[in-house]
Amino acid sequence: MTPDGALDAAFAAQPRTGFLPRAVRDLAAADRPLAIGHGQTNSQPSTVRAKLALLDVRRGQRVLDVGAGSGWTTALLAELVGPSGWVLGVERVPALVELGARHVADAGVPWAQVRQARAGVLGSAGDAPFDRVLVSAASSHLPRVLVDQLAPGGVLVIPVAGVMTRVERGLGEDELTVTEHGRYRFVPLVTD
Ligand SMILES: C[S@@+](CC[C@H](N)C(=O)[O-])C[C@H]1O[C@@H](n2cnc3c(N)ncnc32)[C@H](O)[C@@H]1O
Repeated sequence: MTPDGALDAAFAAQPRTGFLPRAVRDLAAADRPLAIGHGQTNSQPSTVRAKLALLDVRRGQRVLDVGAGSGWTTALLAELVGPSGWVLGVERVPALVELGARHVADAGVPWAQVRQARAGVLGSAGDAPFDRVLVSAASSHLPRVLVDQLAPGGVLVIPVAGVMTRVERGLGEDELTVTEHGRYRFVPLVTD
């Protein structure tokens, strides 16, 4: 688990307000998803915290953030890995790539960036392996292509069929430990 103290520090350093459209900024303290346009949301803070805790993020790691949206999770991950790490956020909606990239650029974490996801391509195999992969959209199944982007010992956290799922890759070929951590609702992970 990512230590509570590290999570507290990351949330304090990257307040949600800076990642929300003006229209919903006064709702930043509400523990619920908030609309960021294009039918997408900035996730519920308690859910983001639970996922980041499960991801067990350490300083210096390389992290992939699938579904960067507003850029908030990308910036939080950047705080957790620190300047010796690297965070790549990928997002499929072009207007949100622009928004998320601007927010992350303003967040003072130059070791993090947001890029356009290519249609039909999940994650960023060319930048793999990643120590950690966070997915902020729901998949109907565990995508093998994301598991394959994990480094040995790496961890993937992803909602699968409504259940928050943690996948830890062992040191050997095809050694996976899969655990389930409660039911959540997310916007769908688009795979085409
Ligand atoms: C819950 S929202 C954004 C949460 C985001 N992490 C934040 O902090 O605001 C999930 C995002 O996943 C994006 N998404 C869905 N399928 C995707 C895919 N295949 N690749 C990249 N992004 C995807 C959606 O466009 C949406 O912006």
